[in-house]
Amino acid sequence: MDFRLMKLKDMKKVRELELSCIREYFAEAIENKWESLPQEWKDNLGASSSKHFGPYLESGLSFVAEEDGEVYGFIFAQMLHHIADCDSLVWIENMGVDPMVRRNEIGYRLLRETLRAGRARGADVAHSTIQADNAPSVMLHKKIGFFIDRRSVALIDLKDPKLEI
Ligand SMILES: CC(C)(COP(=O)(O)OP(=O)(O)OC[C@H]1O[C@@H](n2cnc3c(N)ncnc32)[C@H](O)[C@@H]1OP(=O)(O)O)[C@@H](O)C(=O)NCCC(=O)NCCS
Repeated sequence: MDFRLMKLKDMKKVRELELSCIREYFAEAIENKWESLPQEWKDNLGASSSKHFGPYLESGLSFVAEEDGEVYGFIFAQMLHHIADCDSLVWIENMGVDPMVRRNEIGYRLLRETLRAGRARGADVAHSTIQADNAPSVMLHKKIGFFIDRRSVALIDLKDPKLEI
């Protein structure tokens, strides 16, 4: 398995894999509703969507795992500045591994590539978006040395027409 920087030619395969990981994670919530969800909403999902792919490609921190021309895993990350008391912070947006080849250290090695590249570029710290109930993801982050505390991110939908601010 090769671990290399993501390229433009990976977009289609990475898109398929990221969408299948998203569908897998939200399987219970969306059940069989996927087909009836608005296409525009689905098109904007994930870092591999056409709107978001470019910056993650250019970041130099997004990698794929490839063997015989097939992409088996991906990680999307970018560098952020002046956040959480850091000059430079690696923001890990999403990662995923093909279910057929999980538990072969592919996730671990992808994460390690991003962390090594970020450190080489001067990052002080890395933040990764994880869901507390996603055990494989939590265990993977712990294995590599992430510290998981009680912090979480509060969200507000600024485009909600009912929002009064
Ligand atoms: C999370 C994910 C990326 C892990 O990829 P992977 O290649 O299977 O993980 P690795 O083989 O590198 O595992 C590394 C460590 O993670 C932990 N881990 C991975 N899968 C696990 C599982 N199913 N149960 C418990 N721990 C698990 C283990 O500590 C493992 O080390 P070990 O094999 O020595 O016990 C993969 O399960 C996945 O794609 N899930 C769906 C998408 C997703 O949830 N992405 C995470 C968003 S942050």
